[in-house]
Amino acid sequence: MKKTGCLIAALLLCLCLTSCAKEPETEAQKASVVVGFSQLGAESSWRIANTESMETAAKEAGFGLMMENANQKQEKQIDAIRSFIAYQVDVIVFSPIVENGWDNVLNEAKKAGIPVILMDRMIETSDESLYTSYVGADFYAEGKKAGEYLIRKADAMNAEHLNIAEICGTKDSTPMRDRQKGFMDVISGDPRFTVIDSVDGDFLRSKGEECAVHLLDLYGKDGIDVIYSHNDSMTLGVLDILEQREIQPGEDILLITVDGEKEAVEALKAGRINCVVQCTPKLGPAAMELVKKLTSGEEISKVTHPEEGVFTDFDDLTDPSVEGF
Ligand code: AHR
Repeated sequence: MKKTGCLIAALLLCLCLTSCAKEPETEAQKASVVVGFSQLGAESSWRIANTESMETAAKEAGFGLMMENANQKQEKQIDAIRSFIAYQVDVIVFSPIVENGWDNVLNEAKKAGIPVILMDRMIETSDESLYTSYVGADFYAEGKKAGEYLIRKADAMNAEHLNIAEICGTKDSTPMRDRQKGFMDVISGDPRFTVIDSVDGDFLRSKGEECAVHLLDLYGKDGIDVIYSHNDSMTLGVLDILEQREIQPGEDILLITVDGEKEAVEALKAGRINCVVQCTPKLGPAAMELVKKLTSGEEISKVTHPEEGVFTDFDDLTDPSVEGF
């Protein structure tokens, strides 16, 4: 009798331990479709708006979103993807910080039968079957728009020669590589332009400031005619430094930037920036539409680019369509 009592108590304890050890299911895990989303970081206003867009769109679609923010670390993104595989999410969406180094983990997702959608940035791989779809900007076209603006501006100014300093986004990321290539492909045949330097600003406002200090110390105000930077955050950092040194942005030095956040568009309207190439962070609805189609067995396109334009000091900037995100 005593023995049976002990056995029952042990069984009850065991049951309690297993149920106590089990984490309660989160809202995301309870949904019928669960998306594992690896965001690369929070380096810019663009990125913060992009994260919000993904969260809102997932909610509106009724999908569970398991999001991990990698704080600019590729290893953390790889860990996040592995945790999504272990959890057996329905679809993995991720924004790769750099283009290379994803084949192993994406092969693991493929083996687990989990489709992968690249959102915002691309990867470099010889095996295109490692991702199902890409949704994001055409960064090469953005770089070309920046170059085309510069040619138009140089024509309008009758400029004989312009020295350009380039401030680049995160090394080896798709927007860094393609915004540089698109720009160079447009201007490099034109003898009026010399790119005097190209520095790494990692898409950060603080680094934009550092780059501006470095460039001005090295070349002086009169040695730089144009600063082309790969995003608004870095450009806003440059603006701060130019104004501290009483250099008139948009006049003494032309500023060309990419993204289109509110602060940059306002600076364009105030004549402190000359050209803002648009890059929309609002990719959530398009990404969730792809998830919906994928999980209901529909075919999806391999590449989806949003429509994007450019705002410049040649435009009527009082037009209500000229606004930032
Ligand atoms: O990948 C998109 C780029 O990343 C945006 O232009 C930039 O602001 C962000 O950090």
